[in-house]
Amino acid sequence: MTELTRSPAWQALNAHYEAMRDFQMREAFEADPQRFEKFSLRLGDILLDYSKNRITEQTLKLLMDLARERGLPAWVERMFAGEHINVTEDRAVLHIALRNRGNRPVEVDGEDVMPAVKAVLERMRRFTDSVRGGDWRGHTGEPIRDVVNIGIGGSDLGPLMVTEALKPWTREGPQVHFVSNVDGSHIAETLRPLRPETTLFVIASKTFTTQETLTNARTARAWLLEQLSDESAVARHFVAVSTNADKVAEFGIDTAHMFGFWDWVGGRYSLWSAIGLPIALAIGMERFEELLDGAHAMDEHFRTAPLETNLPVILGLLGIWYINFFGAETHAILPYDQYLHRFPAYFQQGDMESNGKRVNRDGEPVDHATGPVIWGEPGTNGQHAFYQLIHQGTRLIPADFLAAAEPANPLGAHHRILLSNFFAQTEALMCGRSEAEARAELEAQGLSGEALERLLPHKVFPGNRPTNSLLYRRLDPRTLGSLIALYEHKIFVQGVVWNINSFDQWGVELGKQLASAILPELEADGAVTAHDASTNGLINYYKQLCS
Ligand code: F6P
Repeated sequence: MTELTRSPAWQALNAHYEAMRDFQMREAFEADPQRFEKFSLRLGDILLDYSKNRITEQTLKLLMDLARERGLPAWVERMFAGEHINVTEDRAVLHIALRNRGNRPVEVDGEDVMPAVKAVLERMRRFTDSVRGGDWRGHTGEPIRDVVNIGIGGSDLGPLMVTEALKPWTREGPQVHFVSNVDGSHIAETLRPLRPETTLFVIASKTFTTQETLTNARTARAWLLEQLSDESAVARHFVAVSTNADKVAEFGIDTAHMFGFWDWVGGRYSLWSAIGLPIALAIGMERFEELLDGAHAMDEHFRTAPLETNLPVILGLLGIWYINFFGAETHAILPYDQYLHRFPAYFQQGDMESNGKRVNRDGEPVDHATGPVIWGEPGTNGQHAFYQLIHQGTRLIPADFLAAAEPANPLGAHHRILLSNFFAQTEALMCGRSEAEARAELEAQGLSGEALERLLPHKVFPGNRPTNSLLYRRLDPRTLGSLIALYEHKIFVQGVVWNINSFDQWGVELGKQLASAILPELEADGAVTAHDASTNGLINYYKQLCS
């Protein structure tokens, strides 16, 4: 057993789990009229209702004991103090500095990073204003109407998700497009309706070595030059966001048109940095700063609130309860908001690249589950697709439901219908429908005898399915900033409990290396024999199809 699973707090939770096996939320609500008040919290206008979980006050106490035993408060301090908590890369983890809106200095290796952070924000403001205001002109003198962000992973998902989420604020800016996939169809379809004279490319890559991004960037440059036929056009149509000035220059982008960030910003935590440039171009710098303000409010809450009333801590520990004690393997994120349609996908990277780890910080294999599979789609679409399995399948799938009280587009009864579903789903998942209730309903429909008995088991919902609800006034930049930071810190909390490094991502390397080895084999003549029989067979069949 590892130190974690041997620990008194873990053992106490194990014993408590045995006692909680038969716990029914429905009965708990009936027994305690204060359950909602007890198990809900507010930060600003964001309400977190976590009362529909398989928990008692004792469960929370034991989870808090675990967090304390794992030294969570000290780890939070270490992160905010700029310590190199990303041990395998020997780096600080300071996305919180990017949205530090107060005057508190944030130091890395004895140096306050805030002046540099503010200087980049100021450059982003000047650039964004000039593009949006029409002062930045393309090579032929026309203003910019379309921006194409070329990046992948953290250099794509965050800006894409936020730009989609804040669409109502994008009306006055250029249209912003995102190209990530190395599949040529992505860039081909994106560029098809665009004119090079009015298109600006943002090449976003922390390392500026990512194969997909550089391939797409080269294709974009070729497209531009093919039509504008002048190498000097690149300067007015390409800017870069990176930590690697040498590689940016090598690619042919003037570093005067490069927006920098730092190695202490992880890719999947980078939308707050210059990687957020396409967001700022889409919604304007003021709105971008409101996004930062919202994240900062959550950071301050996370840093200062007691564990018991700390939203990210509660979400993180509830996740631990289900993953490690109930054996839940996945976690659904279900926004009842069409504008949040990329939110679950964003946190697939956020969570799974962070906590999808099998060894602890010291390199020892863990003997417990770590990060869950994150998935989800917006409601109500998901209801007509996969909710069947959540309601009546054999798996326990904890889920988060998110919704805004105010509609972004007030249209008749749309929003009330949407919200009635939002409320109904967590109620249905919790309450279920007992055999007696199902029987009564079938009888009311006129069924009896064998016909009723045959249908009855299919009509029963076991219920007791755990959910969290996040309800807020409206989805604006500030609220979105807070919500993203909430999930980021939740991931951190879980990483601390599991004693894993949530900030490296070595697991993406092997596939990249093998792809580099295979690429020349696809270009060379002759059969390939260097791999296992399956991989050889696939490659050779591909070659046969293409010959
Ligand atoms: O997929 C691995 C990864 O390293 C991610 O962590 C990162 O967000 C993405 O690639 C893109 O990296 P870069 O910004 O350096 O191009």
